[in-house]
Formats: sequence, structure tokens, C-alpha cells
Amino acid sequence: MNSRRKFLQNTLFGSIAAGNAAFWAKTAEQFDHSAKDALPAVIATWGPNVKATAAAWQVLSTGGRALDAVEAGVRVPEADPADTSVGYGGLPDRDGNVTLDACIMDEFGNAGSVSFLQHIMHPISVARRVMEKTPHVMLVGEGALQFALNEGFKKENLLTDNARKAWEDWKVKSEYKPQINVERHDTIGMIALDKQQRIAGACTTSGLAFKMHGRVGDSPVIGAGMFADNEVGGAAATGLGELVLRTLGSFLVVEEMRRGAHPQKAVETAVKRIASKYPEQTNENQVGFIAMDKKGRHGAFGIHPGFNYVLYQRGENKVFEAASLKSR
Ligand code: GLY
Repeated sequence: MNSRRKFLQNTLFGSIAAGNAAFWAKTAEQFDHSAKDALPAVIATWGPNVKATAAAWQVLSTGGRALDAVEAGVRVPEADPADTSVGYGGLPDRDGNVTLDACIMDEFGNAGSVSFLQHIMHPISVARRVMEKTPHVMLVGEGALQFALNEGFKKENLLTDNARKAWEDWKVKSEYKPQINVERHDTIGMIALDKQQRIAGACTTSGLAFKMHGRVGDSPVIGAGMFADNEVGGAAATGLGELVLRTLGSFLVVEEMRRGAHPQKAVETAVKRIASKYPEQTNENQVGFIAMDKKGRHGAFGIHPGFNYVLYQRGENKVFEAASLKSR
């Protein structure tokens, strides 16, 4: 059993069994905090990313910048060979290539992104270099690799033995169908708010397992996989990237917050938009959003049950089950 699944069963459902069910039943809106101690805070998609939020918290709790926090945070799953959806150990495309997508935004509205990047373990750090050292926002494929190598990043084989085996098993039938909440699709999106009330966001993924060679999802697209605006807050997406790309989901969430919506209402609006425009694909696929506003209030919502997230705030690193549009 994949480590993510084990985690969900042992830790998340374990905590319900241990008596936390009432706590879990609340939506993020009911956890509303706009008190002074709501800062700093960091939120990330998917429960197993507690180590990622812990790395981000290390930066935030010592007065560091939200941008440094999100980069440090998402580098954790990027380097983790057991995480089959991000960075090293990510499942390959149908031709056996691990291709990575990532994006990052800072408190000034600067953005950097890489997509279809191969052989570099930390695409998020390359995305940050694109943001900080080039006049561009996005570099792709061979150009992104060349840039990374020029910047001193090391060329590595990112296909682990486990990922190769999963690909060889998949090739027997070669059936391509994304599935709801399957661990093959757990992009990390992260939004941080630092002590100086600066917002930053990051998103990184190896994308859909066994995708077509050259396929790029929502994660490196600013406004789709992630968007942050220091006047308002930030949002990030996980799940079937094609649905998020067609609706620019993270941008929509931030714009809803700009209009005064609570982050929880904002993420619900983005999920409902997908459901109303693409009802059939909504039935068969998962998308989840997380959001955080400048007050440190957060939201999280999925199309289907099973989407969870981590919130590190007030010194506590906790996993929560997100509410969802559809029921079990
Ligand atoms: N959300 C990640 C992807 O679709 O690639």
C-alpha cells in the first residue's frame, strides 16, 4: 500500500476513531480566526505534507519571509522518493519520463514558473530563479533545463525503482484514466502568511501519472494551480489539472476573496464553477482548493470527499478533512 494511503488510514481515520470526529465535522469557516495571533500561518494540500508545513513553519516562526517559507516547505516532498506525485520519485509519463511542473509567487506579485522540466529535483527553486533572475515568468522543457543547469542545479535521474516498476505494471494494460483521490495525483500547493503579513504561494507536481508525453497541467500556470495577491491572500489547487486550467480556479478564489468572500466561501465558489461547467467530468474526477487570506483565515473544499489539508497556525501543525460538494 502506498505510504500516502497508509498515512490516511492510520493517522487521519485513526484520529477520528480516537474521538476527534466532531472537530473534523467543522468547515474551515467555523474555525474562523482573525485575531492577532493568526499570523504567521501556512496551509498546504494533503495531510501527508505535515513535514512540508513544518519546514515552512521553521522559516515563519523565526520571522522569515513567506516566500522563503513556501520554497522550503514544498522542497520537502520534492526530495521525498516515497511521494509519487511530486519531484524525485514522481510517477512518469506513459513513455517513462518524469516531467515536473512548478510555480511560485511573492508578495510583490512577481511570479516564476517551470513546466515539462526533467532531471531537476527541485523545480520550485528553478521557478524562483526564473522569477528573480530573468525578465520572464515561465520557462519550459529543454529551455528550463538549460537555465537550471546554467544556474548550477544538478542533473539527476528522478525515476526511482518503485516508479519504474509502477510504470512497467501500468504498461501491461496501458489504460489511462485519472481516479479520484488516488495517491498518484497529490500535487502540493502551499500558501504562507508571515509575521509581516506578507503572502506567498508555491505549487509543485510531477502531474498526472502516465500522462501523454508533453502534457502540462494546472500547477505551473499562474492563476490556475496557484495565485497569490498580497492585497488579498492566496489559493492553490490539486486534482485534475485540466478542470482547473479551464476555470483558472486559483485566480477565481483570490478574486472572490477580493470581493469580500471568506476563504471558505471562495473555494466553494471555485469548485461549484467546475461542477456547473463540467458536470460529467466532475462526477469522475477530484479537484480540491486551499486558500488563506491576509487575516490568516483559511478555506478548503473538494469536489469529492477525501481531500484533506494541513494547517500550521498558532504553533500547531494539524491535518483536517476538507468539506466537499458531493457526499460519499
Ligand atoms: N494538478 C496537477 C496536474 O493536473 O498536473
